[in-house]
Amino acid sequence: MLLPQGASTIASEVDALFYIVYYVSIVFSIMIFGGVTYLAIEYRRRGRISLTTSLDSNHKLEVAWTVIPTIIVLILFAMGFRTYMKMNIVPAGAMEVKVTGQMWFWSFDHPSGANSVGELVVPVNKPVKLLISSRDVIHSFYIPEFRIKMDAVPNRYTIIWFEAIDTGSYNIFCTEYCGTGHSTMLGKCRVVTQKQYDEWVELNDIPEDMPLEELGEKLYKSRACNTCHSIDGSASTGPTFKGIFGHDVALEDGGSAFVDENYIRESILNPQAKIVAGFQPVMPTFEGILKDRHIDAIVAYLKTLAKSPEEDTH
Ligand code: CUA
Repeated sequence: MLLPQGASTIASEVDALFYIVYYVSIVFSIMIFGGVTYLAIEYRRRGRISLTTSLDSNHKLEVAWTVIPTIIVLILFAMGFRTYMKMNIVPAGAMEVKVTGQMWFWSFDHPSGANSVGELVVPVNKPVKLLISSRDVIHSFYIPEFRIKMDAVPNRYTIIWFEAIDTGSYNIFCTEYCGTGHSTMLGKCRVVTQKQYDEWVELNDIPEDMPLEELGEKLYKSRACNTCHSIDGSASTGPTFKGIFGHDVALEDGGSAFVDENYIRESILNPQAKIVAGFQPVMPTFEGILKDRHIDAIVAYLKTLAKSPEEDTH
């Protein structure tokens, strides 16, 4: 009742531990504060000269308040240790997904080669191992419904695993303060049936021989360019992609830039280099996420958006 829905195999064990610790704490809090209150009233100072009667030690009481809490913490240790080991030992045959955190989004490399930004797609009832790292500062990968949380640390890998027991969409949070965009470093974990997963893999798989324009259009959606850049001419968080190729754009510093292949490449890999007038420098670098062929494809796609429909007919 205090926790979100548990949607992984480990969730019920984590919850059981939480509730045991929670109720033990409540019982002892009542005993301690009740005892303090009772003693404060019973043995309050009653006059100018008032002495408490001298008390002998009570061996039975001392043994009881030593042995009982010891047994309780040993039980908690045994339960916690068992669950901790379960959480950290990846079952054989787990599907491995590479998770990369960076300011301020998560990207996922699925085993098929499909790569996505902000969306982790996994089949239900299958163990999934997450191999986590960071490209800049420390982030922390957290899915409350699965009861898993693991730091993403630069220059090393961390590992966590889960097995989802229910299909659905679950929130991914970053739980380590990592700068201005920390609170927006969100994602979704979509748990689907094996059949839907296979379909998704097929859809996101990029064939080697796909024409560049087509690949670029696909990347525009799958790499989430479309969350900030429209293709219909309207301004969003970032400038529109429509009709910019082969034209000059005004820059924030008062200068201007000519939109050609190198300008687009620079804007993808080093987005802070030239900020278009009227926009905030909020775009993250896609270095390492988009390979050369991907950048070629996006350039090709932007070229198609520069053409007017009349030109297309020739
Ligand atoms: Cu990434 Cu907070």
